Amino acid sequence: MKTVTTLAELRSARAALPGPLGFVPTMGYLHAGHISLVELAKQQCKSVVVSIFVNPAQFGPNEDLSAYPRDIPRDLQMLQDAGVDLVWLPTPETMYPPGFQTWIDLEEITQPLEGGMRPGHFRGVATVVAKLFNAVGPDKAYFGQKDAQQVAVIKRMVLDLNFPLEIIVGPTQREADGLALSSRNKYLSEAERAAAPVLHRALLAAQAAYAAGERGGAALRALMQSAIEHEPLARVQYVSCADLLTLHELDTITNGALLSMAVYFGKTRLIDNLILD
Ligand code: PAF
Repeated sequence: MKTVTTLAELRSARAALPGPLGFVPTMGYLHAGHISLVELAKQQCKSVVVSIFVNPAQFGPNEDLSAYPRDIPRDLQMLQDAGVDLVWLPTPETMYPPGFQTWIDLEEITQPLEGGMRPGHFRGVATVVAKLFNAVGPDKAYFGQKDAQQVAVIKRMVLDLNFPLEIIVGPTQREADGLALSSRNKYLSEAERAAAPVLHRALLAAQAAYAAGERGGAALRALMQSAIEHEPLARVQYVSCADLLTLHELDTITNGALLSMAVYFGKTRLIDNLILD
């Protein structure tokens, strides 16, 4: 496995890799969710490139960029073990050169859900992902379903800007008790960790109600809200039952739906989702 930092090094190492080329962008502090995307990329592509870059532009003013967990030696070992060909660790100066002023702003799709709670977040995500795509030039790029709105935003951007690549979405990876894998889980206290699977239980309860015939968006939102509120350590920020493409809240489900939620446990904010189709 080769590790590079500069754009020039990336370009020459990338040019030597046989295609099709799969790309997994990450912010590091890798877990089994990231590795499952690498494994998917390895199944579908001849070469796999991973980037590790903690993107300052996607953190809000109240979100602590410096506290974001980092462990590059451990990440590199995991990627080596997973059989990655090339790892790119760009510097902030490469991604945001002095005087930087070119941003990618998607409109409606970034307004609800995570975008509503984290203004500017998807502007940072879309901009950095577009720059990573430009630099790496992948045939397929891999993202986890856990960040459902991020997937929708990136798919929209790829269509709108005619990026010549395919977005592949890997399923959410979970602990045995249902908690979705996330770099943020490490911030949970023991009691919060024990409480956190309530997100998945709430999603499953709504899925069961849907399977039993419930089609009301409000009823499913209320069901998830009350399931989470049974857990005293959980504080709901939002629960949603939204259209799969527009992400607008649904009154009635006619053509599938995205169930999603953001819930605080102390200072730690967890998200999770499930698709009804
Ligand atoms: O999902 C992430 O880890 C990040 O949002 C991404 C896609 C690597 C962009 O910084």
